[in-house]
Amino acid sequence: MSGRTVVVTGAESGIGAACAAAFGRAGDRVAVLYHSDTAGAEASAAAVRTGGGEAITIQADVDGEASVDAAFAQVEAQWGPADVLVNSAGLNMTGVTVRDMKLDQWRRLIDTDLTGAFLTSRRFLTGRGDKNGDAAILHISSIHAYAVRAGGADYCAAKGGLTNLVETLAIEEAARGIRINAIEPGMILTPMNARAQADATYRATLEHNIPMQRAGNPEEVADLAVFLASDRARYITGARIVIDGGLSLMQAIGA
Ligand SMILES: NC(=O)c1ccc[n+]([C@@H]2O[C@H](COP(=O)([O-])OP(=O)(O)OC[C@H]3O[C@@H](n4cnc5c(N)ncnc54)[C@H](O)[C@@H]3O)[C@@H](O)[C@H]2O)c1
Repeated sequence: MSGRTVVVTGAESGIGAACAAAFGRAGDRVAVLYHSDTAGAEASAAAVRTGGGEAITIQADVDGEASVDAAFAQVEAQWGPADVLVNSAGLNMTGVTVRDMKLDQWRRLIDTDLTGAFLTSRRFLTGRGDKNGDAAILHISSIHAYAVRAGGADYCAAKGGLTNLVETLAIEEAARGIRINAIEPGMILTPMNARAQADATYRATLEHNIPMQRAGNPEEVADLAVFLASDRARYITGARIVIDGGLSLMQAIGA
């Protein structure tokens, strides 16, 4: 599998950046969609090219319909309809409980982590028109789609909603050969987990709860994304694949 057109959102950082580089190593054309970090996007594009792929960078707000439409139009003008979409753009929970949460915060997170997935998926699909077969959408969800945390109602609701979006899309698009799956990471060392990277004691406390006794790396998530987008995963659709070193199995601690 090489020479595909792959759109990665949130590709200037963390899991998205690792995915962009991994698809580059697979020999694909990667559209590096980024929010505001131009230098990060250029670094991701450079990694794609170093790996043997082609890259373009495009600024896009995933929660903006016109912005998403314009980004895909630019990809299609250059390379034609996209074959793979990796939706990695997202905001993290803030620890604010519902009784203290402002409506603006709720909306911002739902708009980014859930509506963004709807907008990018829809534009990916309409861009393909009646073209059938060999296409895949991957949404980077979270174990918090089902393992909730106090202070994360906005994030957990967005990722829980993403599960239903993925499953609905999967049955809508299966007959066209377009597969839609969710990747559910646990603790991955990215800027979203900046404190764990800066504070060894804090990180050790968190890693103690992970059966494999360590956090994951973005490259490990990217390896899964490349597999799920490949022909080797041709019968997998509507699935939620957990990648968390066993963390989500520990919910009954203290029971
Ligand atoms: N790191 C983890 O432990 C972890 C665990 C589970 C799930 N995830 C999910 O993985 C995905 C990637 O997160 P990450 O860990 O790489 O964090 P990250 O902060 O490095 O990357 C998130 C990216 O999303 C982009 N983004 C935010 N708002 C955007 C918007 N409105 N439009 C476009 N882009 C926007 C940011 O610019 C950033 O590049 C997220 O969806 C996150 O919820 C991460």
